[in-house]
Amino acid sequence: MESKILVTGGAGYIGSHTLVKLLEEGYDVLVLDNLSNSKLETLDRVTSITKKKFEFIKGDIRDKNILKEIFKNKSINSVMHFAGLKAVGESENFPIKYYENNVLGSIVLLKEMALAEVKTIVFSSSATVYGQHSNNRYDEKTPTKPINVYGKTKLIIENILRDIKNSDDNWSIGLLRYFNPVGAHSSGFIGENPKEKPNNLLPYVAQVAAGLREKLFIFGDDYPTVDGTGRRDYIHIEDLSSAHVRALDYIQKNKNILFTVNLGTGRSYSVFEMINAFEKVSGKKIPFKVVERRIGDLAEFYADPSKAEKLLDWKANFDIKKMCEDTWRWQKNNII
Ligand code: NAD
Ligand code: UD1
Repeated sequence: MESKILVTGGAGYIGSHTLVKLLEEGYDVLVLDNLSNSKLETLDRVTSITKKKFEFIKGDIRDKNILKEIFKNKSINSVMHFAGLKAVGESENFPIKYYENNVLGSIVLLKEMALAEVKTIVFSSSATVYGQHSNNRYDEKTPTKPINVYGKTKLIIENILRDIKNSDDNWSIGLLRYFNPVGAHSSGFIGENPKEKPNNLLPYVAQVAAGLREKLFIFGDDYPTVDGTGRRDYIHIEDLSSAHVRALDYIQKNKNILFTVNLGTGRSYSVFEMINAFEKVSGKKIPFKVVERRIGDLAEFYADPSKAEKLLDWKANFDIKKMCEDTWRWQKNNII
């Protein structure tokens, strides 16, 4: 039987875009998702884009019986682990929910992987693990000191994976620290579709442009940046998903390694720069009001992506125009 990739959280924003790339590259894939923050419709759309079939099981990574079944019957050889909760504010209010879903869920998954001798995994980490530093350009040696519960869950899982690797050299592990993923598939069929009010900038801007929200609230214009607003390293979702396939190839070919890489473009844009770019591609005015700073926000940070570029022979290609164009196409065409 052919071997398969298990994609946890494959119906979500980043998982579904990576699923498209995996299918296009000819991988055989099984998606496990409890649909707590996604819809089945997204997976149908992946099939429409790729014209390829894949298996889907609705289930939770905390359910060891489902995982046992999968590892026993489905010839899994590697795992891409996206499943997790990601809302920073919610994580502060409901820490147990976050530790249980993200940390406990990962432990259950890793235990079943170990029992089944499946020891190859790509994990979705986040630049949030770094916290605040005086230097805005973060490389992978930047000390980790997350300031919110969500970020702490990511760092705990990274450390668990490092300890597993130290105990058993047969594991091959890629830890991918994403900066700010944005955009949508160029087909306009899949994209980010927040169930609640968007926390992140670009989905909020897109909803204002679409007339779903009256105005954008800019969280502070008194930061020590050129225009006073926060600056971030936005990375197009298609660049991010390509990096996952490279990372998987890398750990499948170079067995017994653990690597940690930043995934970003290496440059930052301010809130006003993003608004201007979005207004240009959409032809819509984005009304805004400057309000208080959001607690936990930093003035500026961006990736030093050189390690990922060298190791994975990968580079982020898409600029903010394309990020805004694809977000807008998705926003205009689809609310699913
Ligand atoms: P998302 O919410 O769109 O996707 C996560 C998917 O996991 C959803 O489909 C959800 O239903 C599923 N899921 C959650 N808990 C589960 C569980 N216990 N069992 C099975 N399925 C479960 O989020 P996303 O933006 O696609 O993020 C994917 C991963 O990348 C997450 O781990 C997230 O923390 C991480 N990440 C995201 C960002 C970002 O800005 N989007 C940045 C850094 C890291
Ligand atoms: C947020 C998360 C971070 C996560 C990242 C990517 C917080 C505190 N941090 O970070 O953990 O890794 O998303 O998912 O939630 N902005 C506005 N108005 C808005 C929304 C955002 O002005 O309505 C500003 C922010 O102040 C910031 C920039 O836009 O300067 C980007 O914000 P956002 O998209 O939320 O990303 P991060 O702040 O990097």
